[in-house]
Amino acid sequence: MEQNDQSILSTEFQSEVDGQENILRPKTLGDFQGQRKIKENLSIFIEAALQRKEALDHVFLIGPPGLGKTTLASIIGNEMGSEIRMTSAPALEKPKDLAGILTNVTEGSIFFIDEIHRMRPALEEMLYIAMEDFEIDWVIGQGPAARTIRIPIPNFTLIGATTKAGQVSSPLYSRFGITCRIEFYQINELISIIRRSAKILDAKIDEQAIRLLAQSSRGTPRIANRLLKRLRDYATILGNGTITKEIVIASMDRLGIDSEGLEEQDRNILRTIIEFYDGGPVGAETLAISVGEAIESLEDFYEPFLIQKGYLKRTPRGRVATSLAYKLLNIEHNHKQDENQGILF
Ligand SMILES: Nc1ncnc2c1ncn2[C@@H]1O[C@H](COP(=O)(O)OP(=O)(O)OP(=O)(O)O)[C@@H](O)[C@H]1O
Ligand SMILES: [Mg+2]
Repeated sequence: MEQNDQSILSTEFQSEVDGQENILRPKTLGDFQGQRKIKENLSIFIEAALQRKEALDHVFLIGPPGLGKTTLASIIGNEMGSEIRMTSAPALEKPKDLAGILTNVTEGSIFFIDEIHRMRPALEEMLYIAMEDFEIDWVIGQGPAARTIRIPIPNFTLIGATTKAGQVSSPLYSRFGITCRIEFYQINELISIIRRSAKILDAKIDEQAIRLLAQSSRGTPRIANRLLKRLRDYATILGNGTITKEIVIASMDRLGIDSEGLEEQDRNILRTIIEFYDGGPVGAETLAISVGEAIESLEDFYEPFLIQKGYLKRTPRGRVATSLAYKLLNIEHNHKQDENQGILF
């Protein structure tokens, strides 16, 4: 029980098997809360493409898990009135897997590749040519008789999504005409998301509770929605059905989530850097092993939020805990460590 509760935040980033995520997923740009700049830009590009009756330029969506990349991709499909085909890079194993899709796309349709940083190099080449020239190279025959033919494909829009923009090769990156960097959501944006979700789920929640929940949601809509559902359970069983401030406080305590949205593993990561590695720098792999976390979830889920909150820094030599982290954990800061870093590195 305890274990399940503890993992409410982190397990969310690994899968989207939550059936109800679909009913909470906005379907239009107008329904997509927050991220004003991204929405404004996208709506202009979409409108222009529609007016010219052209395919939208290729779109690259970057951001931590749960911030709305998949949601935005399907919204773009809706707004363009286009067919959308979704896959993820690890599912594309052989050139023929990719060629099979590319030769079947229709004019103006959308092809969404999730986790695009995991594309195999051999397939990446094929994708470059498809994105730029709307053609694919295909080898027929074998040995000395083998030859390459170019097959034209319809003009399509590629939407690539990644949590790790740094791992996408620059030739691929440069072929996207539109890049959207999705940032963690502000409190007010989360408040609108929670209000919208509560309405859809028919969950009763008062204003103070909405604000508290927004603060505990790690800047992430998926977490806000996930927590809202748990709070509704708590309110039903422990209260009178309405989610109040008291219900939120008691529930977050049970879930091990503090008022900033940090969970036990976040504090554990910071404590480990400070106590085992003198505040850092420590390599990501070593750190992941020390805290018993997969490197992926450390890098994709935990670190971005800790960095945004100013508790952690990524340096070329590894991860470093900031003085804010010492303060958070009530550990005295050994400033000598900082001086050493200045001299040595
Ligand atoms: N701007 C938003 N407004 C309202 N709800 C949102 C918004 N962004 C995301 N959500 C909600 O959060 C859920 C998770 O978003 P989504 O699946 O698009 O994230 P993601 O960035 O694709 O995550 P991952 O990297 O794990 O694939 C959605 O189902 C939706 O309900
Ligand atoms: Mg997604």
